[in-house]
Amino acid sequence: MIQVFYTLPLLLAIANSVTYASPVELKRRLDNGLGKTPALGWNSWNVGQCSAATATSALAAANSFLTLGLKDLGYTYINIDDCWSLKSRNSSGFIVPDPTKWPNGIKAVADEIHSMGLKFGLYGCSGTQTCAGFPGSLGYEARDAATLAEWGVDYWKYDNCNTPSGNSSGRFMTMRDALEGARRPILYSLCQWGRDSVWTWGKTVGNSWRMSGDIEVKWASVASIASQAADISSLAGPGGFNDLDMMEIGNGGLNPAEERTHFALWCLAKSPIILGTDLTKIPASSLQIIKNKALLSISQDPLGKAATTFIPDSTSPVPVSGKLYPYWTGHLSDGVVVALIAVDSAVNLSVKFADVPGLGGAGSYKWKELVNGTTGYGTSVKASLEAHDIAVFKVMTGENHNG
Ligand code: GLA
Repeated sequence: MIQVFYTLPLLLAIANSVTYASPVELKRRLDNGLGKTPALGWNSWNVGQCSAATATSALAAANSFLTLGLKDLGYTYINIDDCWSLKSRNSSGFIVPDPTKWPNGIKAVADEIHSMGLKFGLYGCSGTQTCAGFPGSLGYEARDAATLAEWGVDYWKYDNCNTPSGNSSGRFMTMRDALEGARRPILYSLCQWGRDSVWTWGKTVGNSWRMSGDIEVKWASVASIASQAADISSLAGPGGFNDLDMMEIGNGGLNPAEERTHFALWCLAKSPIILGTDLTKIPASSLQIIKNKALLSISQDPLGKAATTFIPDSTSPVPVSGKLYPYWTGHLSDGVVVALIAVDSAVNLSVKFADVPGLGGAGSYKWKELVNGTTGYGTSVKASLEAHDIAVFKVMTGENHNG
């Protein structure tokens, strides 16, 4: 007969092995192969909140992606936000699409959207209820992930309302593991508003993470979110990006200069670009902004490095957290991007390439301004900007004629 004696050292060793389980878990990384560049798509929330969470509005957006040429530019995801289900799960514990909003169910719409060459996304929540009071996934993660896979969902935005107290990372990891278990590649978009320093662990859990509270249709909100993103730019990269929230372009409240800057900054910061307007009614000037191919190529640059602020010389002010800063730069796979922003009022701004980190000292370069398409060559760039407007220069580093 074998007798086992539980000595104190053995019990401590067992206790330790339990303690060690959590660092091992923290090292696990999401590996779904998705989101190597920021997602491009549309979401219903900023369009009409709960009232836009319908099959009709998803299909209208998908049709607009085709008719407006957005699909050809890489816009792919048609995402439905909060309020798509009934208020209670069924007796077997499954979430039920609201039949008045989804007369043929969700799968039929996902199938139709797939047949158009696009992808379909849904919204859920890591608490007991979503922010609008619909069923949350807490305790139902595996079942809900399997349901999403069965319906053909490609993108899952996962929110943070009605949650137990404590660090949110565990709840978001539970859903990550459930999605992996569902064996369908589903882009995982964390939405916990920058809580618990999500940018420090988001990349191990999701393909993007909201880093701020909800965007509002006003310049102050756009400027504040972008300035916060500058502080955490280095923590994002292919497969995991800071999410600056859905676009407000086309919704009124921002003038054309502000809409241009909103779009350009989201491209520079490598945020997902998730359009948030009724595309069947989008004004021509707003459409032109979201169709800027050159800025989209900054967003989709394979290097996936987010731009951030830089101080060009000793006479410039230092960046203040929460306040938009006029000088931005970032590396591209084939050059360097430099942006100048009129953060308060109309202004003439210029910068010498010698003062741009990443351009390796003085030199003359070819450049292209991506908002207006002007080109040039020299040792500096300048822009005469109306209030809240932006100029974005792509500097071709392969063309250094001083080198
Ligand atoms: C939260 C999110 C928003 C939106 C709403 C829906 O506020 O941050 O983006 O999804 O919930 O209720």
